[in-house]
Amino acid sequence: MRISQQIFPRPVVLVVTVDGRGKENVMPASFVMPVSFSPKYVAVAIAPERHTFSNLREVGEFTANLTTLEMLEQVKICGSYSGRNVNKFSMVRLSKAPSKKVRPPSITESPVTFECVVEYMGLFGDHYLVVGKVVEEHVKRTEFSPLLHQSGDRYMEAHALKP
Ligand SMILES: Cc1cc2nc3c(=O)[nH]c(=O)nc-3n(C[C@H](O)[C@H](O)[C@H](O)COP(=O)(O)O)c2cc1C
Repeated sequence: MRISQQIFPRPVVLVVTVDGRGKENVMPASFVMPVSFSPKYVAVAIAPERHTFSNLREVGEFTANLTTLEMLEQVKICGSYSGRNVNKFSMVRLSKAPSKKVRPPSITESPVTFECVVEYMGLFGDHYLVVGKVVEEHVKRTEFSPLLHQSGDRYMEAHALKP
């Protein structure tokens, strides 16, 4: 059984990167965790075959853009193609805004975007753990329904419990 079928649900973030020439790419990731409150750090596990991984090797910066239920279709498309072969930004309805402190842009539809500088990349099994320091954040909305991933093409939504 895959670990993603055992540890779930996990929020989906859209990871935006650029290559050395500035060409942008976006991929969904749900192997994501907060690491530190202050300064803020966020970690994401990226498989080495992803184009995103090559980009991170070339330019150690990314934006982590939280997703909402309304972004499910865009997430599915971005997770089905590699930026090595296609320009995903021209395939999906996602708009970009320039970031303040890193080269990869932010996704406008995202309620929260973290601009991150990579401080650590290390191989653990079949994924690299990539730890980014949050150098800027954009909180556009605090009320939203996060898109949650189970495994494969299974997604979930969150319901708050009574305190
Ligand atoms: C909801 C979802 C979550 C995913 N989570 C991860 C992840 O955490 N790490 C990873 O390496 N790939 C993950 N993937 C797979 C990549 O997004 C997928 O292989 C994508 O096409 C890679 O794009 P790239 O080659 O342009 O980087 C996920 C896919 C989906 C649909």
